[in-house]
Amino acid sequence: MVRHFLDIHRLDAADLRAILDDAHARKAARRGWPQGRPDADAPARDRVLAMVFEKNSTRTRFSFDAAIRQLGGAAIIANAGDMQLGRGEPVEDTARVLSRMVDAVMIRANDHEEVERFARVATVPVINGLTDRSHPCQILADILTIEEHRGPVAGKTIAWVGDGNNVCHSFIHAAPKLGFRLTIACPAEYHPDLMDLAKGGDHVVLTSDPQEAVSGADVVVTDTWVSMGDQDYDERLAAFEAYQVDEALMQAAAADAVFLHCLPAHRGEEVTDDVIDGPRSLVWDEAENRIHAQKAVLAWCFAG
Ligand code: CP
Ligand code: NVA
Repeated sequence: MVRHFLDIHRLDAADLRAILDDAHARKAARRGWPQGRPDADAPARDRVLAMVFEKNSTRTRFSFDAAIRQLGGAAIIANAGDMQLGRGEPVEDTARVLSRMVDAVMIRANDHEEVERFARVATVPVINGLTDRSHPCQILADILTIEEHRGPVAGKTIAWVGDGNNVCHSFIHAAPKLGFRLTIACPAEYHPDLMDLAKGGDHVVLTSDPQEAVSGADVVVTDTWVSMGDQDYDERLAAFEAYQVDEALMQAAAADAVFLHCLPAHRGEEVTDDVIDGPRSLVWDEAENRIHAQKAVLAWCFAG
């Protein structure tokens, strides 16, 4: 069986925990090393990762490239618009071709179903690098960051404030797998998808009140109010006005609560400068941890 990494709810809880533990261990083992030096075991030696981007990216692009290098492999990166994919070549044919040329493929796609179609045909591992539906790699980095600063995530309360978007969905998927509680505050018209919400079961609580969601939480997380592909910018800005994470909202969380944001941030919209630049913010560790988390994902895929 090819090991795809498409969504967190499709992983065994034991595999998910093993990926996170490997990420912690790999990060610790190379502390202080130059970024380009491969890990001692180099589990991706001689392997090539293709990366296909239908949408913009800074963190995902650079962190996957750094990750495959640190595992001893190499990357080929392309924007979908420069590929025949951008001129209508079927996703399935692209998957068949890339499967003959590389050892794994990471895709960032507009439409989640495209990644599913790609994976159904690919004979090498396929990794979801963000779709309109989910962003599983991001959540691994977030959990890694929480655990580094506050210990095991099991039993913690994570408060999501803002849009019930792709990143929120992946947090929902992770909650029952890792045993944390997720409280989500969002306006009724921008709630998470109900099918995704159901996957969180009783680990997830939905409210429209940010104070209620954040009350006593160990972690406060937000994301942009307007994701890539969203068209209704003005409506969104109006709908989310009361959902800004500011210092007053952070005061409602636990005294040692930390702040996360997957970035890019829109300062003055979903978060204020004093929170994102403040002492509780872990956003730069979170961004760095994309490398360590994705190395563990790649190693898990290749070990399959
Ligand atoms: N957080 C994240 O995925 O960032 P990029 O869009 O820059 O890859
Ligand atoms: N929700 C955001 C995340 C960006 C990393 C988006 O999809 O644009």
